[in-house]
Amino acid sequence: MAQDIETIAQDLDEWVYNHPWAKGGYVDPNSTREERIAYHSNQSSTNPIQQVRDEILGLVERILELKLDKKIVEIGFGEVGGTHRILKQLFSEVHTVEMRSHVVDRHIEEQQNGEKGNSFFYIGASTDHDVYLDLCRNVVQCDAIFIDGHHSRNIVESDWRMYHHLVRKGGMVIFHDTICDFEGEREVAGLVDDLSNGKIDGKKYKFEHIHKSLDVGISYYIV
Ligand SMILES: C[S@@+](CC[C@H](N)C(=O)[O-])C[C@H]1O[C@@H](n2cnc3c(N)ncnc32)[C@H](O)[C@@H]1O
Repeated sequence: MAQDIETIAQDLDEWVYNHPWAKGGYVDPNSTREERIAYHSNQSSTNPIQQVRDEILGLVERILELKLDKKIVEIGFGEVGGTHRILKQLFSEVHTVEMRSHVVDRHIEEQQNGEKGNSFFYIGASTDHDVYLDLCRNVVQCDAIFIDGHHSRNIVESDWRMYHHLVRKGGMVIFHDTICDFEGEREVAGLVDDLSNGKIDGKKYKFEHIHKSLDVGISYYIV
């Protein structure tokens, strides 16, 4: 299933830079949140992938090293689904929760020629009990979870509390946007700190950080 990092990076670059309408490229590692909000005022400036190149490729390298390749759960598809597209190349099954059905439908039409292939979609809020049960019953156990849905403290903490137990021993629990918090809006870094310090369930989770930007960042721990 998985290929080498160079092949994946080359394929991703080609896709990101030649997307038919989302011309925003990767997230600029030196941009600030305010600059990004101002820049994304029209559809053509959308990022095909809402990731900093070196950060997402750093994560791909780690997934390859750990030989994780069966199932991943992704919370938050994004506008165009660039991360979903990479995960499809790495895992036999990608189970994605997204509350906006139109972004998923558009991706299936535009990028997957109307076929779902190894993608499994759950449309609705990650905290909705029907969505949650549907996913848990289908997945049972997975190799990794990538949490990048709603970024408020209560929702990201709920996502972790609800889904982290699905990850098998040796698998990865991954969070996105972990460099700094913007109060009331993006509060993942605070949760990562609290998990590291044993403030959530008494256990001190050992996080690795892939921080190669001003304020985006990926962090994970191995179960
Ligand atoms: C930052 S984007 C994800 C970007 C994606 N990981 C990428 O790299 O391209 C967050 C997505 O999560 C979705 N979302 C927000 N809150 C959610 C929730 N509670 N449940 C499911 N999806 C949610 C949003 O609609 C949005 O598409």
